[in-house]
Order: sequence, then C-alpha cells, then structure tokens
Amino acid sequence: MRHFLWLVDFSKDEIKDIIDLAIKIKKETKAGIFKPYLKHNQLAMIFEKSSTRTRVSFEVGINQLGGNGLFLSSRDIQLGRGEPIKDTARVISRMVDLIMIRTFGQDRLEEFAKYSKVPVINGLTDLCHPVQLLADLLTMIEFKKFDFKNPKNTKVAYIGDGNNMANSWVIMAAKLGFEIRVATPKGYEIDEKIKEIALNEAKKSGAKIIFTNEPKTAIKDVDVVVTDTWVSMGQEEEKEKRLKDFKGYQINKELMSLAKKDAILMHCLPAYRGYEVSEDVFEEYEDVIFTEAENRLHAQKGLMVWLKK
Ligand code: CP
Ligand code: NVA
Repeated sequence: MRHFLWLVDFSKDEIKDIIDLAIKIKKETKAGIFKPYLKHNQLAMIFEKSSTRTRVSFEVGINQLGGNGLFLSSRDIQLGRGEPIKDTARVISRMVDLIMIRTFGQDRLEEFAKYSKVPVINGLTDLCHPVQLLADLLTMIEFKKFDFKNPKNTKVAYIGDGNNMANSWVIMAAKLGFEIRVATPKGYEIDEKIKEIALNEAKKSGAKIIFTNEPKTAIKDVDVVVTDTWVSMGQEEEKEKRLKDFKGYQINKELMSLAKKDAILMHCLPAYRGYEVSEDVFEEYEDVIFTEAENRLHAQKGLMVWLKK
C-alpha cells in the first residue's frame, strides 16, 4: 500500500505512470466514457482548511470512477473537538477505501497515514500541495511546455512566497530534471529541508535549481511562470506585513514581458488580483489557468486509480 504524502516518495517513472493514467482517463471522460475503475470505493475527504477545487475535484472524480465521496469538515466531525488524529484515522480507515486530508502541519498528515489502513492522499498541508503539482504537470504537457523525454527543455520561474506551492514545484523539478528558478523576498525563502532534499535529487536528475531574491533575473526567458497567493491559509494575521514585503513580486505586464514570448502563466488559485498577479495578465492566461484548475479532476482520478491498482 502506498500513500501520497509528498512527491519526495515518488520516482520520475511513478509520476509518469500516474500522469499517463490521468491522460488516458481524461480522454475517456471527454468522450463520455466513464469506466468504473473504482466501483463501490468510498473516499473520505477530511478538510481542516477551506477548499473549492480540491473538494469539488475529488468528489466529482471519485463519483465518475464509480465510487462515492464523503465530505468531512473538521468543523463537523469529532476531530475538530479534539478527538486524536490517530483515532480518527483508525476509525475512518476501517470503513473507507481511500482518504484525502487537507490539514496544517505535515506531521499531522504523517501521523494520520501511520494509523490508516488505506492509502492517504495529501490534499494540501503547510509544507506542500502535491496533488496540485500533478495537475500542473498535466497542464504543462498539454500546453507543450514539458515532455518527459526532454525535461531539460523546460525552464520554470516561481515568483512569490516560498510556501507549500513553491516547495512542491521545487521537488517536482528536482525529480523530473527541469530547470526551476525560485524568486522570493528575503525572509520568505523556501523550507531549508526541502532545499536540501531538492538539491540532492537534482544531482541525480540533472535539474537546475536556482534560488534568488530577484524576480527579474528568475523570469528571464522562461517557458512557464508560476505564482501563488502571498497570504496562505493560516497566515491571515500577517497579511498587512506580507503585502508590503512582497512589493515588486507581482506578475504584471512588465515582469511577464521578460519571459519567453510564448511563455504561459500558471496559478493554482485562488488568485488575488492586484497582489501576486495583475488583472490584465491573469485574464490573458485564463485558458491555461482554468485548464490547470480542471486538470485537478483528471490528475487526481489518475492518482486514485494508481493508488488502488
Ligand atoms: N488550488 C487549490 O487547492 O484550491 P482550493 O483551495 O480551492 O482547493
Ligand atoms: N498557498 C496556498 C495554496 C492554496 C491552494 C495556501 O496554502 O493557502
């Protein structure tokens, strides 16, 4: 049995297998073919933070695969009133076939997985958001910005907060061997542990990983520009300070013009216009960004089928 807790546990070949399955199932879905790959499977979805995309994509995904999803908000279940996470895991995993959890610390997710009898999927933690990266990879492939055969042809710039999304992009680049440049303001760099893991992985894959505090240097001639909110869930009290500290990191026409002419902009959403991205640039790339959002559905269907194989 495998869990999907972070990308560090997965090889390039395994990531490719999941994406290949996602592509196949997406094609079938678009042709109106719904094969019951996970007939009668129950997916529990535990949320300790808000969600639009993760909730809808997992619930629709498991239904399209012939199974059923249970939305469990921590506001409503005993977990939110202090029932230990390990007891919650032992109870729920005796009744369902798969569990997705969105929570705060990665340690909470790991504790849950340790006590679960069934595969556990990370639906976002403070440390990383690996299911989003599966969708992002699928989107890069569809927009011809990534090819497993030539990973070195891809250059990505992540501009913004060194948060869960930045960590996930760096690990994905390190695993697959593409170039990533991460530009964060001073004091908002990515997790040190992630840096070390990524640099080690990069030695094997040949990935080029650059950390800088200069957005203009990072974005120069890249194929893909990525950003995310400057104020992640749980950081609401820091908002005012963050908005000041991130000045100069907005993806606007001026910054975007330094990327390759045919570069794309990606954003996991929700997007805050006027902060990490300007309204005009966001709308210019809305097709990419909303395909990326839709691909959450397809990528996670691939993942769920892969985990239950
Ligand atoms: N991108 C993403 O995970 O969105 P939600 O927070 O709406 O699930
Ligand atoms: N970094 C954001 C991602 C939201 C999908 C957050 O953690 O709130």
